[in-house]
Amino acid sequence: MAPPPSQRDRTVSDIMAHPVVTADPSETVAAASGRMQERGVGSVVVVDGDRPTGILTERDLVRFGASGADSTIAKVSEWMTADPDHLGPDEDPAKALARLLEKGYRHFPVEDEGKLVGIVSARDLMRISQIRPITPAGLDAPKGLEGVVVGETEIGDVRGMEGFYHYRQYNAVELAEKRTLEDVWHLVYRGYLPTRTEREAFKDEIRPLRVIPPEVKALLPSVAILGRHGSLLNGFRSAYSLLAGALGFQPWLDVPIDTLRAEGMLTCAVIPSLLTAIYRLRTGDDPVDPDPELDYAANYLYMLSGKRPPPEHARAIEQYLISTVDHGFNSSSFTARVIASTGADLGSAVVGAIGALSGPLHGGAPSRALDMLDAIGVPEKADEWIRNAVTHGQRLMGFGHRIYKTDDPRSVMLRGVAERLGGPMLDFAKHVEERCVAILAELKPGRNLYTNVEYYAGVVMDRVGVPREMFTPTFVSSRSIGWTAHIIEQAADNRLIRPNARYAGPPPPEPVPAAG
Ligand SMILES: CC(C)(COP(=O)(O)OP(=O)(O)OC[C@H]1O[C@@H](n2cnc3c(N)ncnc32)[C@H](O)[C@@H]1OP(=O)(O)O)[C@@H](O)C(=O)NCCC(=O)NCCS
Repeated sequence: MAPPPSQRDRTVSDIMAHPVVTADPSETVAAASGRMQERGVGSVVVVDGDRPTGILTERDLVRFGASGADSTIAKVSEWMTADPDHLGPDEDPAKALARLLEKGYRHFPVEDEGKLVGIVSARDLMRISQIRPITPAGLDAPKGLEGVVVGETEIGDVRGMEGFYHYRQYNAVELAEKRTLEDVWHLVYRGYLPTRTEREAFKDEIRPLRVIPPEVKALLPSVAILGRHGSLLNGFRSAYSLLAGALGFQPWLDVPIDTLRAEGMLTCAVIPSLLTAIYRLRTGDDPVDPDPELDYAANYLYMLSGKRPPPEHARAIEQYLISTVDHGFNSSSFTARVIASTGADLGSAVVGAIGALSGPLHGGAPSRALDMLDAIGVPEKADEWIRNAVTHGQRLMGFGHRIYKTDDPRSVMLRGVAERLGGPMLDFAKHVEERCVAILAELKPGRNLYTNVEYYAGVVMDRVGVPREMFTPTFVSSRSIGWTAHIIEQAADNRLIRPNARYAGPPPPEPVPAAG
């Protein structure tokens, strides 16, 4: 049985009208034109039995009217077009339309083995053919846009085969070893590393921006309570959106670029305060205001726990934060740029980026990596657990990367940080890492699956007292610097990001059925 028209290319038989309004050659023109009027058609097909022998159209009737002949006497056979051109039912409507236009006809009878089976008009054919694609959809990009360059950036770059990434020329791992988060923020925003004086001025600029505006702070308990059954990021996303609205962020197309920069600074400064406030409210504690004496990383841990952290913990989390500030056109930064490219406000672009980062394939992995360690439990169970997971199609969280096909430099750096911090989980985590990499190489050969940033991120954050549900939010905190830098860069040289899709469904237009 032939598939229904919606599942294959349409033919003339799908769009022709039938049964056809016909006339006998011996009928009078008056009788035939009366029937045309009555049935609301522009032509009648003249038949001998079921064989078409001619066609009488509105154009023939105009010719007839001009002749002054008597329509009650004149016969159809005298005024019809004999042996009209016709179509077969299986013909392509686009080709049929081309023929019809070329010959100047308005109707084609449709014949099947000499018998009249229908009629199509130019209007019917155009309805179908005009909206058939006449130009290709565009260049095909690989699924997931893998390997496609979609824009330029001066913020940084990721070199997957070399296991190297940088922020504005500086090796990011080296920055994490030698600099503070504020220095790197300055570098990403202002384009260069600050001098001592510039650093202090930058910190002075940030300090007041960390304070949550009172009108937003007053609403946070409701936001935290309403969202307490979902992930913390949902509540935070709503809180940040509220703040952007309360502060009147405007579509950047309507404001000077300096306003956009100021909104970016404020966003990066206030996000740690908002995140930790939502966390504390969810766990029944009051938010802790930022401590003006503490720098970004120490203040982050302070606002989370209410206690000033040991310097080695603050430094460890700072190194993690620096290493995750930016990473090329990753999914969330690209999302931010897509939204920014529409001229929307910075708040909308950041909210979209938070959503993209929350996914387990992007920033949602570190807590799941620790969940995996919990599920394995003891080193002796590692091989069996990992094999079972991979053979059942599960993804090992904290392993694999779209760009890195060798060691992720962030993972190497964070393993070092974890070793420096020590702790009961370290040896077990290293054992599981080693077994995961070996088993992935065996069961997924050629895929080059190594540890990514998320694996040791979880280990480090756990060691410095960041609760598991704050792992991804902590990533949001540092990556907001990258996102906003990308938004500002996009705005400075914008073109709407609007690719094409290849439509892969059944052919349109499917006639809309009358409502039942
Ligand atoms: C990060 C990630 C999404 C990159 O994905 P990608 O470049 O699109 O790679 P694909 O999804 O095409 O995977 C390629 C192959 O490797 C496998 N693979 C990739 N990561 C894997 C993992 N962590 N565990 C098991 N198998 C994995 C896939 O199953 C696929 O196998 P197949 O060829 O038999 O189908 C992917 O590696 C992943 O899901 N990792 C786990 C989540 C994670 O740690 N995310 C944080 C990223 S920083």
